[in-house]
Amino acid sequence: MDSARPHERPTAFDRMLTPVHRWVWSDTERRVQKLLRFSETETDGGRDILRAAEVTSDPLLRRLYLEHAIDEFRHGVLFRHRAAALLKVSPSRSNPAFQGDWLTSGGHGLDDLQVDGESDSDMLAFLHLSEKSAASRFTVYRDVMRHDPPTRAVFEEILHDETFHMNYTLTQLARVEPKRHRRHLWRARLSRLWKAYLRLATGLAGILGSMLLTIQYFVLLPPFAWLAKRAARRELSGWTIVSPGASESLDRQY
Ligand SMILES: [Fe+2]
Ligand SMILES: [Fe+2]
Repeated sequence: MDSARPHERPTAFDRMLTPVHRWVWSDTERRVQKLLRFSETETDGGRDILRAAEVTSDPLLRRLYLEHAIDEFRHGVLFRHRAAALLKVSPSRSNPAFQGDWLTSGGHGLDDLQVDGESDSDMLAFLHLSEKSAASRFTVYRDVMRHDPPTRAVFEEILHDETFHMNYTLTQLARVEPKRHRRHLWRARLSRLWKAYLRLATGLAGILGSMLLTIQYFVLLPPFAWLAKRAARRELSGWTIVSPGASESLDRQY
């Protein structure tokens, strides 16, 4: 069964992006910012999983969720401490480097997690895919971090937990839904795909909107500016003599 796998190998897509990840993580300032952001993601994820422990009626899941939440809070602290240590040796620049967040995300997708109203099986399927995605990303990040052994050690330690999270969620999903756990996984996969598409579409809409506005600015505005200038040139300067009686009307200017 899938849950028997001790480690997750990075996906082909993450492996393909290895040179990009290497470049993104090579800059110390960028590394600090990313570690701080990862710390927030892990802590927020831990908070949501803590809520999942509150709402589930399954005692075993409650215990596992609590341990999981504690792990995620600890990951948040590990990332934050590493960012602080890096900041001490390399103070932040006033002009921050390009972050490339959409290239090197935290990997979890736990920010999409909505705990209330979810069944145990849907929650486990969602968590399994999120942890699998995190394990894949963190494997690549650990491998590209050879130039920074302490940060590499942080990823190594967290990766160990993410692999455990990935495996226990699948084992528990097979326990609570022995016959339909694959269907739940597919549904969760489609839901993640749909959310990824929405994020991509929103990003593309933003880019297209900016392009259209720029084109409008350079193509539509110049003729109006030219017409306005021509009208201004024809305008008589100074006071204009108005013929007697022409200014008596109250509903026009002249
Ligand atoms: Fe984590
Ligand atoms: Fe995790």
